[in-house]
Amino acid sequence: MKTDLSTIVFATNNPHKLEEARALAAGRLNILSLAEIGCQEDIPETADTLEGNALIKARWVKERYGYDCFADDTGLMVESLDGAPGVYSARFAGDHCSPADNVRLLLHKLEGVENRKAKFQTVIALLTDGKEYLFRGQVEGSIATEPHGEGGFGYDPIFVPAETGIPFAAMSPEDKNAISHRGRAMRNFINFISNTKH
Ligand code: IMP
Repeated sequence: MKTDLSTIVFATNNPHKLEEARALAAGRLNILSLAEIGCQEDIPETADTLEGNALIKARWVKERYGYDCFADDTGLMVESLDGAPGVYSARFAGDHCSPADNVRLLLHKLEGVENRKAKFQTVIALLTDGKEYLFRGQVEGSIATEPHGEGGFGYDPIFVPAETGIPFAAMSPEDKNAISHRGRAMRNFINFISNTKH
């Protein structure tokens, strides 16, 4: 079966994520952002799982705008904090907090803590052909004791993947994409589309 997936909406306006996704999809998909389809709403993320939030966002776009769509949700799970901030990673330091606030709070909670193991997990929900699909990606690592590096976003200055030993924020976008939670989930998603739809 051949389905036209050449244009698909990524339910995000985050320029870093769009850049990452477009680099990974290179030539295989035309990825539109929410702004590019005129979606100005703040899509509510009210589920208590990554899967639930990714599905809410993808369904929102499909139902209101009619486009095939994919959406991601990511959490940073810190072992010594029983998996927090997890699904609440974006709002860890409060509803209108900045990424720097989140980083500061996490470093504060881990002051003097020996076990700094953490992992990023991403779930991507895809809505196409009236069906829903989920794809996952994960990267294991640890939380540094202070921020390093100028690149990336969010928790990148303090997340050190086990595979490289340097924070995401100090890696090139290509090197980060090669091992990151979202890079892995995106490749699973793109392989699925390439293998089964075209
Ligand atoms: P979201 O689900 O992608 O919005 O991400 C939830 C939280 O995790 C936000 O605080 C993001 O800044 C953070 N986050 C998501 N992906 C990454 C990443 O690749 N590096 C660092 N932080 C991230």
